[in-house]
Amino acid sequence: MACGVVQLKLPVHGTVNPNRAQRNFNTTDRLMKKRNLINSGALLLVLFHTCLQAETFDYDPDTGEEINEVCAGCHGEYGEGGKDGVYPRIASMATAFTAKQLHLFRERKRPNMAMVEYVDDRQMPDADIFHISEYLSRITLKTKLPPANENDPGFDAYARLLESKRLMQIPRAKGDIAKGKKLYRKECGSCHGKEGWGDIKKAVPMLAGQYTNYLWRQVKKYREKIRIHDEEDTESELLDDFSDGELEDIFAYLSILDD
Ligand code: HEC
Ligand code: HEC
Repeated sequence: MACGVVQLKLPVHGTVNPNRAQRNFNTTDRLMKKRNLINSGALLLVLFHTCLQAETFDYDPDTGEEINEVCAGCHGEYGEGGKDGVYPRIASMATAFTAKQLHLFRERKRPNMAMVEYVDDRQMPDADIFHISEYLSRITLKTKLPPANENDPGFDAYARLLESKRLMQIPRAKGDIAKGKKLYRKECGSCHGKEGWGDIKKAVPMLAGQYTNYLWRQVKKYREKIRIHDEEDTESELLDDFSDGELEDIFAYLSILDD
């Protein structure tokens, strides 16, 4: 994963008060306002590592689109996925989430035989990972087509066809929706979003709008520790406490969120 370095300048008057230094970390903005203070003292350079999508590139949509032609062979032109979840939906995910997965694939930390050849260093330098992740994050998929009348003189059949290709609708999965909703809200919603659409800031993927088969396959990988669910607590597996029946209910609930 790409890690950026932010340099913060802090004033030093004899010893540094750690609490004060901590507060000063908050924003560079605030530090700018303290420039007078800083100028009056000796300078301490503090290197502050941020490893969540810290390296930034100027987004280039053309590069994103070009790379997507490769991905489209499996994940569909609009990142909608296919084959009932053999290929997951990858559109509208947080850029940082997609970039993280591509780095993991590239570094062989998350196995993905199908994709290995597309993500090696030569094919997929960091900048390309950023462009494609950002490109995909900007695609929105409709879950329903708005009503249209084919006999209307303004009806555009081609536009309608294109629109229907961007449609993504998860079929109702079996399970108890009401129970699933309760469990989801209590156990998953704080990270994956109240309605399952993920959390961009925290780089948490959406679970609503994702193929149920794909979700099941990932549950298995987390349980077998092939994937890591919670990096802050790598020993505990968030899904260990749930039975298959409970997950089935949660997935039933998730499958109706795009209705
Ligand atoms: C040959 C088919 C193939 C191609 C081409 C391909 N993928 Fe994949 N991709 C897969 C498969 C299969 C999986 C599911 C792996 C699994 O079950 O863990 C996957 C998973 C992913 C995931 C993980 C999604 C998630 O929510 O966990 C991302 C992100 C992804 N692909 C992005 C891409 C991008 C970007 C490209 C183009 C550069 C691409 N893929 C090209 C087959 C492919
Ligand atoms: C502490 C925050 C947190 C909680 C609580 C949480 N998750 Fe996650 N979940 C994540 C993160 C972060 C990821 C992405 C991790 C990675 O990179 O593999 C993730 C990924 C997933 C994935 C894989 C999705 C994909 O596209 O690859 C599934 C499935 C999943 N979670 C299910 C659940 C379920 C079901 C619950 C509730 C029982 C839950 N999670 C609770 C943070 C959380």
